[in-house]
Amino acid sequence: MDLRADEREFVDSVWEKIDKKLSYVAPLQKGRIPYTTSSKWHNRTVDGTYCDMRRIDVSWWTNGFWPGLMWLMYVGTKKEIYRAAAQDTEDILDEAFLDYDRLHHDVGFMWNISSGVNYRLFCNTKSKIRTAIAADILASRYNCEGKFIRAWNGDMTGWVIIDSMMNIPLLYWASREYNDPRFEYIAKNHADTLIKTHIRDDGSVVHIADLDLKTGDVKETFGGQGYSVGSSWSRGQAWAIYGYVLSYIHTGDKKYLDVSKKAADYFISCVNDDWLPKVDFKAPKEPVYYDSTAGAIASCGFIEIYRATGERKYLDAAMNILKAFNDNFCNWDNDEQAILLMGTERYHDDTGRHISIIYGDYFFTEAIYKLKGNDMLFW
Ligand code: GLY
Repeated sequence: MDLRADEREFVDSVWEKIDKKLSYVAPLQKGRIPYTTSSKWHNRTVDGTYCDMRRIDVSWWTNGFWPGLMWLMYVGTKKEIYRAAAQDTEDILDEAFLDYDRLHHDVGFMWNISSGVNYRLFCNTKSKIRTAIAADILASRYNCEGKFIRAWNGDMTGWVIIDSMMNIPLLYWASREYNDPRFEYIAKNHADTLIKTHIRDDGSVVHIADLDLKTGDVKETFGGQGYSVGSSWSRGQAWAIYGYVLSYIHTGDKKYLDVSKKAADYFISCVNDDWLPKVDFKAPKEPVYYDSTAGAIASCGFIEIYRATGERKYLDAAMNILKAFNDNFCNWDNDEQAILLMGTERYHDDTGRHISIIYGDYFFTEAIYKLKGNDMLFW
């Protein structure tokens, strides 16, 4: 990574702080799956310590992020505590396979960066099978006529959400691993459909669309976790930026890079005053609600766009966001187990606003990991 000396110094110092904090926090999570340290969330009483999703909901879509974070740290430091922590949660996640009816398209988030990374590092059969089962589950959700992967279960047969772009790299892996192009056909058809249904002309992104089951045409769109119908939920923007550049990396098809850049340019134009992303870029100016997780995810996407194109403005955008977070939104004390504060689950929900969320720490760390020059791609 082509960084200036001051940027290199910043990246090294943040990586050191992450390692110092996580080497304290990791052993405390044995047998648990961290999600948030916020007491606002589901009436918890203790602030600063992680809740345990193994006990609350083992099928929760974010349960791969803790092992993923541990793998980032393992690859970046080779410290055994991180490998052991990642393996511990991966084993616990087997309980989620038994909760099959509640699994949905987020199996990519859950297994690609847990067992998937384990397999890519150590080639062990158990991790390979876990990852393959997750890929099969994701592929089985494909609608062959509408050409999309359905998101959730129940009556939402035609619902497709932009977040799914982060799940489909699991299918690119399965295609390569099993030398079977069907998985890639599904992933590419899905990505192509969403260019038509979710990416607007100005580069902003729809969170949820209900698609016609036979044609894949949009019947209705929803604001989802953003402000309203027609608005621009910033984490959805970030899923599109990172998701489409990943599809470019896995397929070499430049149209995916172009979509990623279009969503990225829109995101940058909405945050370049202070580099602290709001929850929704088309929400009213007041009240001001932030979502740090959107900036962390987008930064990972910007870094990959920079790697693909050499266009410095994307690296600058990532650096600006990460520096603004280090100055404003990070906690480096051990009495708070999370690093990145000010994440928001959804615009209209007081309990999940301005809290730490595990994927905020995951993507913040992944961005720094990339800037350190680690080139193993986790997705
Ligand atoms: N995938 C749900 C979210 O981003 O909150």
